[in-house]
Amino acid sequence: MGDVSTIRAPSRRERGHEPLVEAHSLTKRFGDFVAVDGIDFAIRRGEAFGFLGPNGAGKTSTMRMIACVSPVTEGELRVFGLDPRRDGERIRARLGVVPQDDTLDLELTVHENIYIYGRYFGLPPAVLRERAAELLDFMQLSERAHDRVEPLSGGMKRRLTIARALVNEPDLLILDEPTTGLDPQARHALWDRLYRLKQRGVTLIITTHYMDEAEQLCDRLVVMDRARIAAEGSPRELIARYSTREVVELRFPLGAQDAAIAALDGLAERAEVLPDRVLLYTEDGDATVAAVARRGVEPESTVVRRSTLEDVFLHLTGRSLIE
Ligand SMILES: Nc1ncnc2c1ncn2[C@@H]1O[C@H](COP(=O)(O)OP(=O)(O)OP(=O)(O)O)[C@@H](O)[C@H]1O
Ligand SMILES: [Mg+2]
Repeated sequence: MGDVSTIRAPSRRERGHEPLVEAHSLTKRFGDFVAVDGIDFAIRRGEAFGFLGPNGAGKTSTMRMIACVSPVTEGELRVFGLDPRRDGERIRARLGVVPQDDTLDLELTVHENIYIYGRYFGLPPAVLRERAAELLDFMQLSERAHDRVEPLSGGMKRRLTIARALVNEPDLLILDEPTTGLDPQARHALWDRLYRLKQRGVTLIITTHYMDEAEQLCDRLVVMDRARIAAEGSPRELIARYSTREVVELRFPLGAQDAAIAALDGLAERAEVLPDRVLLYTEDGDATVAAVARRGVEPESTVVRRSTLEDVFLHLTGRSLIE
């Protein structure tokens, strides 16, 4: 990193400018299989950083290396400026981890799940009681504190897993697909809590294959695909770089799409043909819709919308994010 420190000037770490997590050519192999293929990224203190990618992209493998539960095969990784190979224990003490699958103890109560987890960190009972009460309040679970975990809804279990991950007051919270499998209301409730955590200064790392989640939560993100990083930036930057302002979605009656596509040639900056619709990428959706009509093309339905990260992913990989 060429960190030149002089006697007077504080180092980048002292100024708090050093990335909280930094990876160079980070690689994970399982036997001959390459799950993470030499990726680079830097996560700053206080930001919400996303890894957006489809199933099997290598998101969880990357999270597990950051969480020091899976050894780095090759390359460099620094978490809080420390090396997971040597300082796993010190790193883990400052991390909160929400794994992809909940690992709650279903036999215990909500409160006990937090309390017992906190004991692993050596927190004294009095501190722990107070903290558990605070966290349950923050995660809107106080009313269920003395219920068993088993019958809770998926959203409640997820909130409890997050509450538990916060018991050691971590500087960095790693969330592996925090809302997969939740209904829209539970997802929004969780996004709201995560947003508040960020306001409190907790750095968040979030993996997701939902582009709306990445757009809502992440200041910056990497698009991951097939073990590699395809692009990096803020949601807005990625959309500006890899898509157009608007998208016109056209659907055609069964069997009519091919003929229509020929007639649409040259109407938009770029077109994507999906099995069930044609996407026209354009700065001005309404103007493009008018141009489509002038060519005599009559779609069954026409939608003009803004570009999303889904369009970015489609452009980068030629595939849809959720297949
Ligand atoms: N312990 C393991 N042994 C062998 N292969 C593994 C192991 N863990 C993961 N893989 C493989 O590595 C690749 C990346 O997996 P990973 O779980 O990191 O992807 P992901 O992006 O988290 O996917 P998902 O969205 O499905 O959670 C997959 O092909 C997976 O099968
Ligand atoms: Mg995963």
